[in-house]
Amino acid sequence: MATLSFPRPQAATLAGEPRQERLRDRFGRAITDLRLSVTDRCNYRCVYCRTGEEGAIYSELATEDYLRMARILISLGIEKIRLTGGEPLLRSGLVEMVRELAELRTAFLPDGTPTATGQPVDLALTTNGHLLDLLAEPLKRAGLGRVTVSMDAVEPETFAAITRVPKSFERVLSGVRKAAEVGLGPVKINCVLLRGFNDHQIEAFAEFSRRESVIVRFIEFMPLEEDRSWRPDTVVRMEELIDRLNAFRPLVELPPHAASETARRYTFDDGLGEIGVIAPVSRPFCGHCSRIRITSDGKLRTCLFSQSDYDLYGRMLRGGTDEELRAYIREIVFQKEERHHIGEPGFEKPSRNMVHIGG
Ligand code: GTP
Ligand code: 5AD
Ligand code: SF4
Repeated sequence: MATLSFPRPQAATLAGEPRQERLRDRFGRAITDLRLSVTDRCNYRCVYCRTGEEGAIYSELATEDYLRMARILISLGIEKIRLTGGEPLLRSGLVEMVRELAELRTAFLPDGTPTATGQPVDLALTTNGHLLDLLAEPLKRAGLGRVTVSMDAVEPETFAAITRVPKSFERVLSGVRKAAEVGLGPVKINCVLLRGFNDHQIEAFAEFSRRESVIVRFIEFMPLEEDRSWRPDTVVRMEELIDRLNAFRPLVELPPHAASETARRYTFDDGLGEIGVIAPVSRPFCGHCSRIRITSDGKLRTCLFSQSDYDLYGRMLRGGTDEELRAYIREIVFQKEERHHIGEPGFEKPSRNMVHIGG
């Protein structure tokens, strides 16, 4: 890969480590969020993600390899780590991994000011919730901050039809409640809307948010699935969704927490419930993207829709030092894609599907 030139170290970082400048891409976007996939195994086969067939092969790295990557990235200014999968709760040793990650310190405050002492990394996890009832408490004790639960229906039949797993709905529901009870909140619920599958659940989700005090985020379906079934008319677009919610009860927009936030936030006119709308198809948010991803086999991806990924783990295996790996990461991140091209002529699907990338 060609070496690119860009400004060099100036900010303070972790104790005992060289001074580093935070990661930036060529468009000036600061890269502060890492989504780390710790397995590509999954116990669901959601219709919008997987084919109906069982996949026999999966890839996972040893815990210490993920931890080394996380440490290096934190030294480059990553301040938020989200564990993803596949289904991360299937990963053996996850609680221990969380314990170690929770002890890592970030080099920068959210406003970009370098910190000498370091702040704890913001540590979150996205799960399908099937095993959450069992694991919420140990994960909280290990230092996990919060969870997002993917849940595409609030009634058992639709839930089973989408996940292709019978009788899981009640388990997920108790997982959501347990997570809130042990302090892994505010619990966010991710619902990918698919026309003809779960779009009749929009109002029921609004009620669910109000009743259970969870944040429900509706996500526009993106072309990231294994069986290439994405069609523009399957997407329930933001405009239609907002009309439906407003008819249920008037929405009131809430201010964003951060520019890089993916969701537009709303409550209802009585202040009860919170709805997020994540609209990557009709309202792309790439201009403020702060995310990079590591796949479960240790490849660095600069965009959900990247056409290739970078073998960070391979560099580690070949004996790369931390300093060499930092330089490699800087080069790759610098070239991060400007945006996705969903819906444009000539759009090419990414080189990996969601189950490998982790959302
Ligand atoms: P927090 O906002 O930190 O709570 O993280 P979260 O994982 O709960 O939400 P986030 O907004 O990061 O992601 C929610 C969903 O938005 C993901 O599952 C994806 O469907 C979508 N999404 C997240 N990041 C990106 C991105 O960089 N590009 C696109 N196109 N979609 C994304
Ligand atoms: N489009 C949008 N969101 C998706 N997710 C999985 N596949 C897609 C897709 N094709 C979401 C899931 C989960 C997160 C990991 O990504 O709902 O919450
Ligand atoms: Fe960032 Fe790529 Fe997602 Fe756009 S599509 S927000 S550039 S990861």
